[in-house]
Amino acid sequence: MRRQIVIGNWKMNGDSRSNRELLDGLTNAWTGVHQSEVAVCVPYPYIAMAADALDNSNIGLGAQDVSQNDNGAYTGDVSVSMLTDFGCRYVLVGHSERREYHRESSELVARKFKKAYENGLIPVLCVGETLEEREADKTFDVVGGQLHKVVNLCGLDGLAKGIVAYEPVWAIGTGKSATPQMAQDVHSYIREVLGPEGDQIRILYGGSVKPDTAEDLFKQKDIDGALVGGASLKAEDFVAICRAAE
Ligand code: 13P
Repeated sequence: MRRQIVIGNWKMNGDSRSNRELLDGLTNAWTGVHQSEVAVCVPYPYIAMAADALDNSNIGLGAQDVSQNDNGAYTGDVSVSMLTDFGCRYVLVGHSERREYHRESSELVARKFKKAYENGLIPVLCVGETLEEREADKTFDVVGGQLHKVVNLCGLDGLAKGIVAYEPVWAIGTGKSATPQMAQDVHSYIREVLGPEGDQIRILYGGSVKPDTAEDLFKQKDIDGALVGGASLKAEDFVAICRAAE
């Protein structure tokens, strides 16, 4: 059985005060033992603070990006060992905002994915098509191509060390979530691509997930949780989504 997981992606939001309040809200609400796993991916400057606040909680910590290199002269980059040093367990790789605004190629994303799982982090590989690609009927080609770059470098057994998040670009931050059936169709395609390893790999849906849409998404056979942007910035909404995954 795959354990459901809900991951919050705070993106570039918050400050010391609001992030502290958010962390307090989460740790106060998400106590005790749960069937599903929960984690938050916070901006780099708040990782130490979040590590402290989440210590002894059952909320995991993650980052939103990582370098493909070990260390050295890479100004502005952050390494896997720096993240694990501060208690991170997860890292997003290939988020569409990185692919778009930082021109990250699928080859680079694959290298980041490999570096992460080989050095103690669980990479969350983000894949997804733009509206234009969906309308041109290219969704499976695009998502398949993004997955294959990782499979080529890491093999299916390497990919199985991480998590996949299907995030259609047109659904991110737009309030227009994919319907449960649309998401399920792509998730089942992804599972097929993953072959024999597919059964154990968790595939999350992301894109305008809200408390009132989460439950129907989680009822789908191949949806194993969510990657949540906007709604993860309000403790109450995020916790409601986490509860829906139980
Ligand atoms: P929203 O939930 O704000 O649409 O963002 C989704 C996302 O990009 C999570 O990584």
